[in-house]
Amino acid sequence: MKKVDLSIDFLGVHCENPFFLSSSPVCHNYEMISKAFDAGWGGVFYKTVGVFIADECSPRFDTHRKEGTPFIGFKNMEQISEYSWQENAEIIKKLKKDYPTKVMGVSIMGSNEEEWALLAREMTKAGADILELNFSCPQMTSHAMGSDVGQNTELVEKYTRIVCENTHVPVIAKMTPNITHIEVPSIAAKKGGAAAVSAINTIKSICGIDVENMCGRPVVNGVSSISGYSGAAVKPIALRFIAQLKQHPELQGFPVSGIGGVETWQDAVEFLLLGAENIQVTTAVMQYGYRIVEDLKEGLAFFMEEHGYTSLRDFIGKAVPNIIPCENLDRSFQIVPKIDYDKCVGCGRCYTSCFDGSHQAIDWDADKHRPTITDRCVGCHLCLNVCPVKDCITPGEIKFKKGKEAHEVKIQHDFDYLP
Ligand SMILES: Cc1cc2nc3c(=O)[nH]c(=O)nc-3n(C[C@H](O)[C@H](O)[C@H](O)COP(=O)(O)O)c2cc1C
Ligand code: SF4
Ligand code: SF4
Repeated sequence: MKKVDLSIDFLGVHCENPFFLSSSPVCHNYEMISKAFDAGWGGVFYKTVGVFIADECSPRFDTHRKEGTPFIGFKNMEQISEYSWQENAEIIKKLKKDYPTKVMGVSIMGSNEEEWALLAREMTKAGADILELNFSCPQMTSHAMGSDVGQNTELVEKYTRIVCENTHVPVIAKMTPNITHIEVPSIAAKKGGAAAVSAINTIKSICGIDVENMCGRPVVNGVSSISGYSGAAVKPIALRFIAQLKQHPELQGFPVSGIGGVETWQDAVEFLLLGAENIQVTTAVMQYGYRIVEDLKEGLAFFMEEHGYTSLRDFIGKAVPNIIPCENLDRSFQIVPKIDYDKCVGCGRCYTSCFDGSHQAIDWDADKHRPTITDRCVGCHLCLNVCPVKDCITPGEIKFKKGKEAHEVKIQHDFDYLP
């Protein structure tokens, strides 16, 4: 097999691999970051440094679960760093000295022009390799900071320009998903001089309601707040925003760092295929620890070997042209699923879902506990998605609609080496 290289030059900065900790509590002091670097992370975007010093609430985390699984969505009410910018500068200096080959991205957030300029100068002096501008914290909307700034193109362009005027290192603007068209403020950041954007920060959410206290969770002395949602549950939304960024005509060739729900190397490959050149992670590290980077690196290398890729750029962005407007999809055929009766355990979930949620196309033999797909099938694949047995229901016959010409049709693949 050919040797694979996980390194990448991102914004002109050499990264030994694309895996970075995203700005958050997973990288807010020397001990944590040195442990993460030792574990194999390529770099960090240091917990957002501000002139404002956060005073946090307790508790500040909550989760979204389903049927006893580890949580899939995570809500936090945390703000930016609890340390002064001077204390953070000292930590960053020491990390840069002790880990010269690792990449020190530093996230900053000011509340006015002077603060942005000061933070840009001081963090550059401290040794930042990249400055990330936090325009996107959803729980800091009342301080002239956070996601409200990220929705305001004038402020995004102005603050990006000020930072660029006060640093020589590449500047990356971290965008809010709390907006329909992430491309619009991203174009403003580019005009202001940003070298790239990162996406996404957390999504405004109420994770759930405590029915006894009659308020959102987590409960802070009887009340709660709308605040940021992250983790596996947000990956689909992050991918959608990255596709929007990569496809916009004014952002062609403009690099993106992908963030949002990355837990596994498969997730990372998906972000890379959609054009991300750098991958950031927080929630999965809060859940499982720094050592997930070993699996991320090994899995990515395995994927590349399997596909004959030697460098990340061999496949970055390959999925971008295959995301098209809904109205342009080929609607000339139906793929009827087929059931492997050797695998079927007779649970009936396909029957129930098809009857109650689709086209009543599955007949059910109650004596034998056996489903049969009939001619009423429209090929929606609800049954395939609810069947609990891997590869029991798979895509089967391709039927062309009346009057439509037969042609080659590509079929969806899962990673067949998933458990
Ligand atoms: C507890 C917590 C604190 C965070 N703090 C920051 C922050 O200070 N600055 C920032 O830019 N993003 C912050 N984020 C957002 C993350 O960097 C990241 O964009 C988001 O969580 C999505 O990635 P994930 O699904 O891998 O967690 C925070 C996220 C969490 C969960
Ligand atoms: S593909 Fe849809 S319509 Fe066909 S059997 Fe499955 S659930 Fe029913
Ligand atoms: S959901 Fe799958 S396992 Fe259950 S009855 Fe249908 S085909 Fe069989």
